[in-house]
Amino acid sequence: MNLVNYHTKDAIAYVAMAKAPLNALDMDMIAALHEAMDRARRDSAVLGVVLFGEARMFSAGADIREFDAPDTLRPALQELCSAIECLCKPVVAAIHTCALGGALELAVGCHARIAMIGSRLGLPEVSLGLLPGGGGTQRVPRLVGTTQALQLMIGGKPIDAAQAHAIGLVDEVVTSDLLASAAAAVIRLATGASCRVTSRLPADVSSESLAEIERRRTQTARLSTPAQAAIVECVDRAMKHAPEDALAFEWRELIKLMHTPQSRALRHLFFAEKEAARLSTGAAPEALVPIRRIAVVGAGTMGSGIATCFLAAGFPVVLLDVADAALERGRDAIQRALDAGVRRGRWSCAESANFIDRLTTATDLEEAASADLVIEAVFENLSLKREVMQRLGKIVTHDAILATNTSTLNVDELAAATSRPSQVIGMHFFSPAHVMRLLEIVNGRATSPRVLATAMAIAHRIGKQAVVSGVCYGFIGNRMLEGYLRETDLLLLEGASPAQIDRALEAFGMAMGPCRMLDMSGVDVSARVVEEAQRRADVSRDGAYRLVCRRLHAMGRDGQKSGVGYYRHDGQKLLPVDDQTTLYASWAAEFGIARRSSISDDEIVHRCLLASINEGFRIIDERVASREGDIDVVWTNGYGFPRHLGGPMYQARQWGLPYVIARLEEFAKRYPREPSWAAAPLLAVQAAANETTRSTA
Ligand code: NAI
Repeated sequence: MNLVNYHTKDAIAYVAMAKAPLNALDMDMIAALHEAMDRARRDSAVLGVVLFGEARMFSAGADIREFDAPDTLRPALQELCSAIECLCKPVVAAIHTCALGGALELAVGCHARIAMIGSRLGLPEVSLGLLPGGGGTQRVPRLVGTTQALQLMIGGKPIDAAQAHAIGLVDEVVTSDLLASAAAAVIRLATGASCRVTSRLPADVSSESLAEIERRRTQTARLSTPAQAAIVECVDRAMKHAPEDALAFEWRELIKLMHTPQSRALRHLFFAEKEAARLSTGAAPEALVPIRRIAVVGAGTMGSGIATCFLAAGFPVVLLDVADAALERGRDAIQRALDAGVRRGRWSCAESANFIDRLTTATDLEEAASADLVIEAVFENLSLKREVMQRLGKIVTHDAILATNTSTLNVDELAAATSRPSQVIGMHFFSPAHVMRLLEIVNGRATSPRVLATAMAIAHRIGKQAVVSGVCYGFIGNRMLEGYLRETDLLLLEGASPAQIDRALEAFGMAMGPCRMLDMSGVDVSARVVEEAQRRADVSRDGAYRLVCRRLHAMGRDGQKSGVGYYRHDGQKLLPVDDQTTLYASWAAEFGIARRSSISDDEIVHRCLLASINEGFRIIDERVASREGDIDVVWTNGYGFPRHLGGPMYQARQWGLPYVIARLEEFAKRYPREPSWAAAPLLAVQAAANETTRSTA
């Protein structure tokens, strides 16, 4: 099978990348493109070349797997782009659907670019801790100016063809006949207009550009992301050095970045995310339940957010609740979310109006009858949810899927209430549901594979990162959060302050420390979960378990909403609560917990994280999660775990499992009353295997 197809017509050579599905620019593809360009050069009947991608897209860029062996790589894409520039015949890139990373660099190495309307163009390398190493840091600033180029490379966000045209990244946007337009451009360049060679364009050395470089330099030094800092330095070279020197510098920097732990971790997550969502793209459409209409039951915080997700993906939605007032509040919340999307440029005013036009509301559950997917988001109450699911089971069509957004209840029990359990699944959204990317898909004991595949595909359609979880208390994410918060409260009783705990975990990289998080999401919400957990027969905890959370709630200190919780809230400011030390000391005394004058940040980070990680190994052992990567995807997308550390399980592997075991043993010795410090059996086995491999290596 050819990687590149070549044919000529009317004095034009058409060079097509033909490696489904993404036209990945790996070493073989680059070699094949070299050959095709050379063939066009040698053919005297050929005036110029149209370079395009067959099937789904122009190209999604480099094959990231090749980055695992950086020392075997050559600057092949740089060389290809230089060869194209020196071809003596015009090469025009005809872009459809997307040109990302190396693919955009390749296009920028051509003499002109024509893009199909709606295509996405971008340099997202930074999201993998890398930089564009195919000459992008040199050519893009020459084409669009330093400021725009830095924005594209440091932000990493793709732009659409119209925006790309506005900044000069593409020469023309067309609505049809892409190849014919590209051919016309080749003829124009070959017969009259001079051929622009991007790397020979004058560098953008305006005073604004120099100032922009300095501004970005200060910014990236503060954020300390190696990739962003290296991009700034490469663009600086583009202004001050000969193109050959600057290209060599770019390549050296890229290889250095490939070796960094940050890039390795980000690449791990890149693959983990694809793997976690694999069912969503792998299942054949005819195998799925057709989903045309959605019903959401419960118009509260979650219901309105979930409805927003589906409306914004173009689905008609019926929102159901028991009272008109609740429906009005829900509709207002949806309108506000859509307005915010307009402000952020996610959709236009007209699109937003179309979305809301497809929303209907009703108080009669029978209105769910025509929906293919019903998601219930009523109060977290078992008997209420059972009743709602049971009624829905009688209302909807035979093929319809019934999903529950419960965060703690047993999906199998809810499924049993419907008398059609194979059609029931959990879809656990995170708050705010229209913003958070993570969606745990809870695969019940009886859930049919077709229903699971449909739920995954729907998650993909509404732009969510899906991860499959088995049924258990808290699923993957919240189950691991339990230990993290348990240790937070205990550390407070032992003498750490909320500010110190948050500072330590935020310095580690967590987006938000646990005390701030609890205050924001509501201490009451957490306290109710704790009380429920204590009522459950299988959770035996001593009285100090999550004591701070429970006591604060009992005092009405529910966090941000009540002005005081773990912190005192003064507008946006978080201040220490006046009586926190006295209170925590007296609660500690009540349960015989010794206070210490100082607790190290290292202890805070390790106790909170290892409590979660240990549970993560139990989750794998019980097959609640299929892979460690799935857990990493959950925690980086839903719990603010730093992406550049790859997720909690990846981090555990970086620390080394024997080290993890040693720290667990240390905590187990210090807290014999806490059964959770015993190492998960799977962790113990794997740590021992690690030790053996090491000693025999
Ligand atoms: P909420 O209290 O904001 O909204 C619940 C809504 O359900 C209310 O509008 C209520 O009127 C409605 N409702 C009650 N009984 C009903 C019935 N029989 N028929 C139709 N509507 C009914 O609650 P929230 O926070 O939206 O939570 C809903 C579900 O989502 C719960 O199961 C919760 O555990 C889950 N969840 C909540 C998250 C959060 O952060 N709030 C995150 C993930 C899941």
